[in-house]
Amino acid sequence: MNRIRLASTEDIPTETGLRVDTDTLRIALFRVDDEIFAIGDRCSHEEASLSEGDLFDDEVECPKHGSAFDVRTGAVLSLPATDPVPSYNVVVEDDDVYLLLEDQ
Ligand code: FES
Repeated sequence: MNRIRLASTEDIPTETGLRVDTDTLRIALFRVDDEIFAIGDRCSHEEASLSEGDLFDDEVECPKHGSAFDVRTGAVLSLPATDPVPSYNVVVEDDDVYLLLEDQ
């Protein structure tokens, strides 16, 4: 299992997300209550950054056309997007957020 540090929990806002780019991934981090979730930042409909969307409970609204995505799973909840975005496993240790990746 690979771990990549993404951010500090205090860097993640509560009303929108935080975009973090790794070498290969573009990730949107969200804070829901005291939990942190990570999904793909690129909307599945067109080019838009989900981390710039408004967060309502555990749903983020795409800033471009308004599709809602579940930040816990990446599932798409409303049109015009029809495909989910990836979701990623993260763990928080000492206020640092780490992405967990299976070894290839
Ligand atoms: S770009 Fe996200 S819904 Fe269209």
